[in-house]
Amino acid sequence: MNIIRMYLWHGVQIPARERHVMVKYLSDTQGLAPAETAPYRYILERRPNVVEDIPDETIGVMCARCHSYARVALQYRDADSWLKLSHMHAGQIPTIEYHALARDRDWWVIASKEVPGILGKMLPMKTSAWTAWSSRSKANMQGAWAVVGRRPGRGAYTGTATITRTSEDEYAISYDLQYDNGAPLGGVGTSIVYTGYEWRGAVKLGDDFVNEVYAVSEDGNTISGRWFLENADESGGDVTMVREGATSHQILAVSPAYLRAGEEAEITIFGTGLNGPVKLGPDVTVQEISSDSNRVVVRAKAGDHAKSARPQVSVGDTSTTGLFTVYRTVDSVKVEPGFAISRVGGGTTPAVNAQFEAVAFANGADGEAGTADDIRIGVMPAEWSVANLTDVAKAMDDVNHSGQMLSNGLFVPAVAGPNPQRKFQTNNAGELAVTATVNDGGRQVKGQGTLVATVQRWNDPPIR
Ligand code: HEC
Repeated sequence: MNIIRMYLWHGVQIPARERHVMVKYLSDTQGLAPAETAPYRYILERRPNVVEDIPDETIGVMCARCHSYARVALQYRDADSWLKLSHMHAGQIPTIEYHALARDRDWWVIASKEVPGILGKMLPMKTSAWTAWSSRSKANMQGAWAVVGRRPGRGAYTGTATITRTSEDEYAISYDLQYDNGAPLGGVGTSIVYTGYEWRGAVKLGDDFVNEVYAVSEDGNTISGRWFLENADESGGDVTMVREGATSHQILAVSPAYLRAGEEAEITIFGTGLNGPVKLGPDVTVQEISSDSNRVVVRAKAGDHAKSARPQVSVGDTSTTGLFTVYRTVDSVKVEPGFAISRVGGGTTPAVNAQFEAVAFANGADGEAGTADDIRIGVMPAEWSVANLTDVAKAMDDVNHSGQMLSNGLFVPAVAGPNPQRKFQTNNAGELAVTATVNDGGRQVKGQGTLVATVQRWNDPPIR
């Protein structure tokens, strides 16, 4: 952020190779400990549609209106340096005092007298977490890894990765993966590890060029995070990689991840060091079809009277819960994300799509939908539709101008610029209601979400 800002605001020219060396040096010597980045990884991972949870009300109003709060929380400074940052903002962006949430309070007095003290206490330059982390020896990621991942709109995948160390903190990686529907997904690329745990990969995954923003766990045996398309970071997937041969064995995925009472299916359990009989809870009978240490395939049948539950799944003495659901009926559907934005595109700025998913739930013991004991069944195929959300949207007929909803829940916005076909020749922004309809054995269960189709983002620094 610092180096890019010096370039954008002051024209500092640094050749790419030297910039890489500086970023590496600064990250390794003045970085953040894993525990310090953990709550804010969404901004590094460029996760779309996150609604932030801001721990301090004053800081939320003062500092998280133009950019994320995560950007603030990923810098550690003492009060005098936070004060300089307030000065920097007031000097570079003088309109900062006139915006809503600024003109209705004495912004500069708060920014110069209160904020530096609050932030200096919450996010001080020296922390015990960093002192402890920076003196630890760092893991070597070379080895064989079991991989599970999921790309919204496409589905889950499993497989293996081979990581080879090419020089200090640099690796070559190759993936041998498979989507749950059987489609293969191969990949090769390279990565640099900053600060001992910040994995930044550049990989050709299938036909896509993707960037990986992963964190290595403190014991060096798990790598997890999000990858996204190099040119469209709203599209991507979640990944967890677990080192083969690490002392504790793990079940990482069950596919399909749910089974309806009275139904039968072939189910694959994926993990590391799998060995022994399979159990899918008290209401499911299983018959093994094949097995190796990564993958056990069984024929499973849920009893006619099976209760909706997320049973413990076990293979021998390795077990887990939360990866598999048995259900009687789909009682409710939630659209995730419940609130999303897309951005019109074209010319120099590509459109930003919005990917929705339909998540099915069964009612818990209280027999009511939308309560804390609901049982999450998982992402299900759905029919997708959009409609005008508000009276204004209706008057402007947004639904016929803002873009198109595809059959996998992907909303693709329309082109940018004034549209002569529209009332007032306005642009193709809009507000839409999103509906997912899941078919559960002939019953239709609907879920609702909201989409704001808005304008381009012109200012896009590395940490939003
Ligand atoms: C008027 C909008 C606005 C407000 C309000 C705002 N910022 Fe910023 N902030 C910016 C801009 C613009 C940048 C420069 C990078 C960019 O272009 O996004 C920036 C950059 C930063 C950076 C990165 C600086 C670097 O090292 O390069 C931090 C940290 C930050 N702001 C913290 C804060 C804090 C703390 C507050 C509250 C006192 C605050 N911001 C309020 C607009 C704002």
